[in-house]
Amino acid sequence: MAAKSSFSDPQWWKEAVVYQIYPASFQDTNGDGWGDVKGITSRLDYLKSLGVDVVWSSPIFKSPQADMGYDIADYKDIDPAYGTLADVDELIAEAAKRDMKVMMDLVVNHTSNMHAWFLESRSSKTDPKRDWYIWKPPKSVSPTGEPEPPNNWAQILGEANSAWTYDETTKEYYLSVFTPEQPDLNWENPEVRAAVWDVMHFWLDRGAAGFRMDVINMISKVTSYPDAPVVLDPASHKYQPGTQFFTNGPKLHDYLQEMHREVLSKHDTITVGEMPGVSDPAEILRTVGAHAGELRMIFIFDLVDIDKPNVRMALKPWDVKEMKGIISRWQRAMIERDGWNSVFIENHDNPRSVSRYTDDSDTWRDKGAKLLALMQTTLGGTLFVYQGEEIGIRNAPLDWDTAEYKDIETVNYWKKCEAIYAHNPEKLAEGRKIIQMKARDHARTPMQWDSTPNAGFAAEGVKPWMRLMDDWPTVNAAAQMQHRSGNAADDDEELSVWQFWQRGLADRKEHKDVFVYGDYEELSPQDENVFAYVRTSHNSTGGEKWVVVLNFSGQEQSYHGVPGELEFWAAGTYTKGRPEKATKGGSVTLRPWEGVLGKLKA
Ligand code: GLC
Ligand code: CA
Repeated sequence: MAAKSSFSDPQWWKEAVVYQIYPASFQDTNGDGWGDVKGITSRLDYLKSLGVDVVWSSPIFKSPQADMGYDIADYKDIDPAYGTLADVDELIAEAAKRDMKVMMDLVVNHTSNMHAWFLESRSSKTDPKRDWYIWKPPKSVSPTGEPEPPNNWAQILGEANSAWTYDETTKEYYLSVFTPEQPDLNWENPEVRAAVWDVMHFWLDRGAAGFRMDVINMISKVTSYPDAPVVLDPASHKYQPGTQFFTNGPKLHDYLQEMHREVLSKHDTITVGEMPGVSDPAEILRTVGAHAGELRMIFIFDLVDIDKPNVRMALKPWDVKEMKGIISRWQRAMIERDGWNSVFIENHDNPRSVSRYTDDSDTWRDKGAKLLALMQTTLGGTLFVYQGEEIGIRNAPLDWDTAEYKDIETVNYWKKCEAIYAHNPEKLAEGRKIIQMKARDHARTPMQWDSTPNAGFAAEGVKPWMRLMDDWPTVNAAAQMQHRSGNAADDDEELSVWQFWQRGLADRKEHKDVFVYGDYEELSPQDENVFAYVRTSHNSTGGEKWVVVLNFSGQEQSYHGVPGELEFWAAGTYTKGRPEKATKGGSVTLRPWEGVLGKLKA
């Protein structure tokens, strides 16, 4: 590591454990089957006991909910379904009492088509806000009067459609890369940027600790709006992914630096930019480098996009070596290049990790979830835990009717399948399988709190906005918290997934020099089943060394690469918390999906 690196300089936002809440599905308190801000406040003690420091909620602002709040109609007000501004003030105050912070979701690549700015913009070509959005005349109009969009870009949440939406009022198209209900703001216009800074000040002044920034790498577009290259079969895809022309565009860093100058530099914030589709370390370091003056960290998507070909709703085989490679590459990159990263494996846009990276059958779900918890809590970076991940919630099963899926992306995808595969049962079945594996809905089912009716998410008799998983009577937070009645020091009993997370978060904090700030070295990158690494602290007192060995397979594995003598095994994902066979000469035998953490002798 370079001598002057700031990587290990302590910062609260590096050590913080952030918990992402999907507000509609977290806790309903007023009997409408929809989670609310008061529900979040009522669960702060739960989050505190898990080890959470910062609560980030997906958007709770006024919204027609075309994309579950990622279509905002008023940045300075709360959607009545979620509550009021006063409820948010209370949430922030109650969090502060518990030494916790609240982070907002900043969705400013686009607004809702019902935002006052957009209603003005669409009203006429000469409206002062016309240029706040991206308007273009049709590329052509057919003799029968059919307009053709300005280019061939596909909509992200409905790839069968154009990214441009035609508006009859002025007979022009507006850019809407996600859905027609989410018109893209024109960041080239300084008035738009000033309006965004104003929104940010509004929330920081109210006590928010910072922002997660929705698709923040899409705010600068290639303004010649060229056609995208044809990568999807043109016979079935009229429109093509145009992402290369609007991710990490030409002015992204100018805008982020201006944001830093105008807003962030004036507050002590936590900021994380959502940046899908970018994998070039040099480009990423321009944002998250210690001296970049842009954002604290971003979400890099290489891991959760491991099985993403050109479109998200598709399956691609992947293997453990590929997964290890991705994680190790980013662990090393931040250390070597003096940057900072987030650690996450779930969010509201991805299926459940236990289903995706391990085995979610009744036999292995619990082990798989603990394996992932051990990995997440021992990697370097700021750790993000997603609602329900701490109890190992899995994907909904294949026998759920497609009508249970509410997400606009899934709905659009299934519509397309039904239209083109009406007479092809095999293809239709494949489409259903893709939904079962990849739909965003899996992360959005109501939280499973306890074994009372509606899993404690809503009162008895209330119909939750989305179907609960069927396994809530057994898979729920209360059962997992009570799991070990007695002595936490008694190693003879296995921890529940929740307790394993709690232990992991506490250990991470106790040994933050190692797990948050320490060096990272992957062991045996060629091993096809075992993911192993060493974390070392950079203390002046001489580095502590810890080893993590994770069996990402359903078979027993003998691993021989433990470097050096063990002082002790600190944690394991199986009964007794320890691997049965202690290491000798660097060997350890791991049962299916078993993971172990040990301290090495100095
Ligand atoms: C981000 C959000 C996702 C949303 C999209 C458009 O990717 O996480 O939920 O659909 O942006 O706002
Ligand atoms: Ca409610």
